[in-house]
Amino acid sequence: MNTAFSPLWLGYEPLDTRFTGRAAIRCTSRVDRQCAAVSELITALSAMLPAAELTFGADSASMIFELDIADFLSEEEYTVSADERGASILGGSEAGLLYGVFAYLAAIRAAGGFVRISRRLRPALPLRMLDHWDNADGTIERGYSGSSFFFENGHLIVNERTEMYARLLASVGINACAINNVNVRGEAIKLITEDNLRDLGKLSALLKRWGIALYICVDFSAPMSLGKMRTADPLDINVSYWWQSKARELYSSAPALGGFLVKADSEGQPGPYAYGRDHADGANMLARALKPFGGKVIWRAFVYNCSQDWRDTRTDRACAGYRTFAPLDGHFDGNVILQVKNGPMDFQVREPVHPLFGAMKHTAVAAEFQLAQEYTGQQLHVCCLLPMIKQILAHRTYNGSQNDTVLGTISGAAAVANTGDDFCWTGSELAAANLYGFGRLCFEPTLAAEDILDEWISLTFGHNELVRETLLYILLGSHKAYEDYTAPLGLGWLCKPNHHYGPDPWGYEFDRWGTYNRADRDAVGIDRSMDGTGYAAQYYPPLCDMYSSPETCPDELLLFFCRVPYTHVLHSGKTVIQHIYDSHFEGCEQAEEFARLWDKLEGSIDRRVFDNGKKRFREQLRSAREWRDVINTFFRRLSGIEDEKGRKIY
Ligand code: GCU
Repeated sequence: MNTAFSPLWLGYEPLDTRFTGRAAIRCTSRVDRQCAAVSELITALSAMLPAAELTFGADSASMIFELDIADFLSEEEYTVSADERGASILGGSEAGLLYGVFAYLAAIRAAGGFVRISRRLRPALPLRMLDHWDNADGTIERGYSGSSFFFENGHLIVNERTEMYARLLASVGINACAINNVNVRGEAIKLITEDNLRDLGKLSALLKRWGIALYICVDFSAPMSLGKMRTADPLDINVSYWWQSKARELYSSAPALGGFLVKADSEGQPGPYAYGRDHADGANMLARALKPFGGKVIWRAFVYNCSQDWRDTRTDRACAGYRTFAPLDGHFDGNVILQVKNGPMDFQVREPVHPLFGAMKHTAVAAEFQLAQEYTGQQLHVCCLLPMIKQILAHRTYNGSQNDTVLGTISGAAAVANTGDDFCWTGSELAAANLYGFGRLCFEPTLAAEDILDEWISLTFGHNELVRETLLYILLGSHKAYEDYTAPLGLGWLCKPNHHYGPDPWGYEFDRWGTYNRADRDAVGIDRSMDGTGYAAQYYPPLCDMYSSPETCPDELLLFFCRVPYTHVLHSGKTVIQHIYDSHFEGCEQAEEFARLWDKLEGSIDRRVFDNGKKRFREQLRSAREWRDVINTFFRRLSGIEDEKGRKIY
């Protein structure tokens, strides 16, 4: 494992102040001096005020930093009031205090000095989670940033890097993480067996100090694979006992454990279906085992038929999540959270918002995003997901409640992590903006993507106007550029099978995964109206009607919902085929511009960062050209329609 790591946005530098006096940290009796908030403040102040004398207590100090716990604040809430002589930071608990300290430190660093601040804030979403898909052998499923820093050769690792990881997460308000792959079956390490309990206890305690609850993914059939039982039937009393005693064992070693994350009856993972039970039976049985310890079950809604016959045009993978879970609304126990992917397919660059948001009125729901850029350039392409996440959170479900946005209907958000043991954690330095921004958005979803990025840029790269302007331009334009040169109009699945990098428009067309574009010589797209697969009917009005007709469906989702001839005219006034050609040329030009702009940063940013970026922007451009040529050629040959601008298409 790579042990060297960057501090990312927590690289504290001396502030531009010549303060040489005494600076005091004053904690009331309710604040433990060993707590993370105090240690972070010490780390930061020692680096930012190198000439100051840092003490505890307030005698004759010229700067005072007061920390206290306040009962009038909710648990994760904080207040900061600060000026040039110090700060008073209150938290509803140690976690709230920690968030207050991080918010204070970020604000003074962004401002470049001790400024007046007055803020009271609490996180918008109670659950703010990262899901790591790390395997015991150190590999990471869909990992693009090196190897795991949680596992090596079948062992759990807790070291300095783990501590830095916890600080990074806490600094943006993440309060939960699952450390192992959701595909658990067949894993070499048995996280929940005796051998690993000590390390699990150590890790969960470390994370808890930083306000983070540790979750682990478990194999639904563990009573069989570990317990040597003949069944894993959730309604079998002995199976329940097995899980109850497992929970007791786990919590006696790792009392801070958050609970389980479960992928069941999905892509080959075991689940309750094998016993004729439903997902509420499965989730509740585990939830009841964890309940005495305050644990939660996060149950994934990513359930669909992955052995489909492509000729069957009635079966639609997009329909599966809603059909499985909507009838179970109200059947889940209070400590179950249903984790729903942001769209009904699988983290494509553009999908409609999942219809389960808003539909599950009596179930706790968390939205799942994917920071690991599996389908969005694998961290070789820059693709900032913050505008997309914001758009999804703001999407109205029309479910009749007062706040009917996705944000109003969920109690948490989780994201598949984009980290690894790479020096800069996320392969590309720019991909760290997604990690930073995801946490910030879960905490404060009203923040503009631009403001979050601005903050991240100044904390990571300091104050340089050229760097700031360039990065903002690239990051804010990156998702659109990626969408333009890859999958047009909501089509999706034009990528190469298995590894999902690069174009292959028919790579998934005749396969078993339910991932089709149905392009032929006359038309393209999938009819998901009531005359088609019926998927659009899963939305509340007016969305169901809007999506059902090519006249009203938004252009960017047209081919997801409707099947139209290539000559269909979009709201933009272009035909579908011309849009495909134009967007691919334009997206590619954007990729060229990004690479050009990055080159101009030479000398303004760290050499290593510059070189790493240069390599990646080159690859992005090569790949964007490949996408443009393959996709345009495919549609030109299939449709027989020429580009009206006469550009070169093979
Ligand atoms: C995608 C991804 C898989 C992953 C799955 C999931 O299909 O390609 O690697 O296991 O999502 O979310 O469970």
